[in-house]
Amino acid sequence: MEGKKVCFFEVEKWEQEIFSHYLSGKAELTFYQHRLTQNNLDEAKDADIITSFIYSDLSDKTLDQLKGLKGIATMSVGTDHIGLNEAENKNITVCNVPAYGPNTVAEHTIALLLALSRKIVPSVERTREGIYEYQGLTGWDLAGKTIGIIGTGKIGTLVAKATLGLSMRVVAYDPHPNPELEKLGVEYVSMPQLFHLSDVITLHVPLADGTRHLIGKEQFEQMKKGVVILNTARGALIDAQALIDALNIGIVAQAGIDVLDDEGLLKEEKQFFSSYFDKTDFQTALANHALMRDERVLVTPHNAFNSKESLRNIIHTTVDNIIGLLDNDPINVVNK
Ligand code: NAI
Repeated sequence: MEGKKVCFFEVEKWEQEIFSHYLSGKAELTFYQHRLTQNNLDEAKDADIITSFIYSDLSDKTLDQLKGLKGIATMSVGTDHIGLNEAENKNITVCNVPAYGPNTVAEHTIALLLALSRKIVPSVERTREGIYEYQGLTGWDLAGKTIGIIGTGKIGTLVAKATLGLSMRVVAYDPHPNPELEKLGVEYVSMPQLFHLSDVITLHVPLADGTRHLIGKEQFEQMKKGVVILNTARGALIDAQALIDALNIGIVAQAGIDVLDDEGLLKEEKQFFSSYFDKTDFQTALANHALMRDERVLVTPHNAFNSKESLRNIIHTTVDNIIGLLDNDPINVVNK
């Protein structure tokens, strides 16, 4: 384990202190607050292990260039930002944080839903301006409405329980239904049935080749007019342009979104001028800006995971993952 190098990207000062506390003496630690991109690969060139959040470029192209890399400890559940095939080919072990607090993301999903249904954001904006009037702020009730949950894993299950508690009818689609939810009254249906029945649709599936643009023009056309869309999973599950079109023609009435496709570009827009981005990236960025400006849409900046309790869990699991990699006894491995 001596002499190994761990390179951390996207870690804030307070996080660096915790990592140093648990890991100093076990490896050489280098910390960067910025993300890893094609333009600063040099900073990781000697790394045995890389730790980052999801905005770092750990694509096949990057992994191909980092010759000495043995392990990645991502500070996330999702691993869609990592070139898992190239990692497999190069024998790079990838560890994630499997569950740091599914309730945190479920609670954020419910927060978006209630904020939309009760017009919380425009209400508060109005009172901040000193205007104490409720005209034009009429909301709508959740009780009696139907929510369609796509993906009833850890997060989707908690959203199902919460919305049952709010007296909603809950229908769901998942290739692996959860019998516990069925006992509680959740009805598993096909995706087209879910689109047909739901007043609110919420996504809780991982982003993978088979789920990219899971919701596009064809799916929006099957939905009830006036549906509300929630996405706290991954931006690319929804075709952003198709969502804008669905808002414009009234299929979608409101949307609550914590994740946008290619959201890294929103953090560093100067990257637009890099040769690594093509025309598709510009179109996605324009669509993202249109969604962020739309009054019917609430966008939060991939903040659903961001509670004090979750951050603590993420760091402690990542420390354990790094120690496992250093000791050649990895845990939470996603690619073996
Ligand atoms: P999980 O692995 O417990 O559940 C995923 C569920 O999706 C499984 O039940 C699986 O059978 C189902 N599924 C897979 N493909 C499907 C498909 N095509 N249609 C319907 N269901 C499908 O994952 P968990 O913990 O519930 O997280 C879900 C996603 O939430 C993660 O993959 C991640 O991308 C996202 N997430 C977002 C965060 C945020 O801060 N916004 C934080 C944490 C996770």
